[in-house]
Amino acid sequence: MGVMEHDFWHQRWSEGRIGFHQAEVNTFLKDYWSQLELGGQGGVFVPLCGKSRDMLWLKELGHDVLGVELSREACESFFAEMGAVGSVERREAFGAHYSEGITLLCGDFFALSEYELNAVVAVYDRAALVALPEEMRKRYAVLLNRILPKGVKLLLVTLEFDALTGPPFSVSETEVRTLFSQRFDIQRLGSGCDGDKTEVVWLLRDK
Ligand SMILES: C[S@@+](CC[C@H](N)C(=O)[O-])C[C@H]1O[C@@H](n2cnc3c(N)ncnc32)[C@H](O)[C@@H]1O
Repeated sequence: MGVMEHDFWHQRWSEGRIGFHQAEVNTFLKDYWSQLELGGQGGVFVPLCGKSRDMLWLKELGHDVLGVELSREACESFFAEMGAVGSVERREAFGAHYSEGITLLCGDFFALSEYELNAVVAVYDRAALVALPEEMRKRYAVLLNRILPKGVKLLLVTLEFDALTGPPFSVSETEVRTLFSQRFDIQRLGSGCDGDKTEVVWLLRDK
């Protein structure tokens, strides 16, 4: 990913333009996560995680959470807002590391390999795929399809609306299928309205 795209996000975080951040745990996550039938076991990967509280919810269910986030400011805010739950360690390559159930890799999603994701049994994507322009969505899916461990399941939340600008970007059912159907069975679990946008939630299962 180019420096320009990185700067865009760093600037948003430094100026506090983070309208995507939710004060509460995502409703789709709470309503649909049980359909992955994981019993709170195993690693959950949260790409482009920001400082999402959804990670705390997943951790409280019993999962080991692994987030990746470009912005150091976002990673540090996440730990700071978690309060006295634990200490932050540093790791050489990818930045901050929290040792009690949540690890945040501060760095570029596109630099990940199978190695970082080897303990992952599920992925939670909210505001990650839809945060990227079309060409990057392709690269995002190609990388996930290639490096996720066998048997993995994904809960994916997309947005559909009439506008070509973003982020967020509108992602159609056709696109979801084009990006992921080679590797995954894709099931539309539900949808809801968020202003002029329709939020759609998908379950992807390894074939
Ligand atoms: C729309 S926000 C969503 C954050 C989070 N998923 C949520 O629901 O609050 C997208 C996040 O992705 C991060 N990001 C963008 N490009 C990235 C990349 N290449 N690698 C890692 N993080 C990235 C941004 O800094 C931003 O925090």
